[in-house]
Amino acid sequence: MKVIDYINDVSDRFAGAELFFGHGTESSRDEAIYLIYSILGIEFSRDPATLKKELSGVQQQRLERVVIERMLEKTPTAYLVKEAWFAGHKFICDKRALIPRSPIAELVQNRFEPLLKDQPKKILDMCCGGGCIGISCALAFPESYVDMVDISADCLQLAEENIELHGLLDRVSVVHSDLFKGFSGTYDLIVTNPPYVSKEELDSLPAEYQHEPLTGLLSRANGLEIPLRILNDAASYMSETGLIIMEVGSSSKLLSDTLKNVPLLWLEFEHGGGGVLALSAAELDRIPPASFINGLHTTRST
Ligand SMILES: C[S@@+](CC[C@H](N)C(=O)[O-])C[C@H]1O[C@@H](n2cnc3c(N)ncnc32)[C@H](O)[C@@H]1O
Repeated sequence: MKVIDYINDVSDRFAGAELFFGHGTESSRDEAIYLIYSILGIEFSRDPATLKKELSGVQQQRLERVVIERMLEKTPTAYLVKEAWFAGHKFICDKRALIPRSPIAELVQNRFEPLLKDQPKKILDMCCGGGCIGISCALAFPESYVDMVDISADCLQLAEENIELHGLLDRVSVVHSDLFKGFSGTYDLIVTNPPYVSKEELDSLPAEYQHEPLTGLLSRANGLEIPLRILNDAASYMSETGLIIMEVGSSSKLLSDTLKNVPLLWLEFEHGGGGVLALSAAELDRIPPASFINGLHTTRST
């Protein structure tokens, strides 16, 4: 069978298998290409010669095992092929951390223009998981130093492997911490994709999400506990011209309603996604202390 025929076949089977596409792809065809090319080690090119190549029997058997696991176990493809792409860069990806998919990738690729006036020298990736955001920021800003924080030792181990993969041991470090607890430092840019999924929403998510670590998804107080704790503390760790970018996805409406008097700037994306806000250090400074924690108390505690 030719590569192109196998892509068509897998794409049709994926489309009929009640799968969820959203962990790095958006359709059954993209997912089939991602899986097949990654397993075969083919570059993501549309070179017609690649598509016309014959698959060997061994290759087909190997691919078939993975395709069947994708359909039966609903394991996201990124975990099966052990790699994911973010902001144009390849990352090692496995069940130690969430699969990279934040729309923040588009902001990194645009070097946060026009939000950032100067190149950030010190960057913090809070809740870094496998490190995709912090590492791609380090690659976008070659003069910068990046700290990446997570509460999960598994995530930090994966993040360290990704730092090494990208040759960034001299500029990117990991910190094991519960958000800012016991933390010091001042950053020009804080980027964060924290857990923001409520218990109620979690129960309604497709089966693919059950393969991901719960600490990467669930946040109490209807999803707002961790985002509000970060906003409450962030100002103390930002330079005067600092900026914080935070993804809260589906919790954006509740966050806006909870923080009615805070000028949250919700960003728009060319390539899809949303629920990402920007706030400057100056704006954060104008907000009365503990407003965010008060917001937490007004949010139901489930
Ligand atoms: C949504 S995942 C984001 C991972 C990565 N930044 C990305 O975009 O793919 C959230 C991460 O927050 C971490 N986390 C959860 N609670 C935390 C806490 N209290 N302090 C630090 N990290 C935390 C989880 O371990 C998880 O890696």
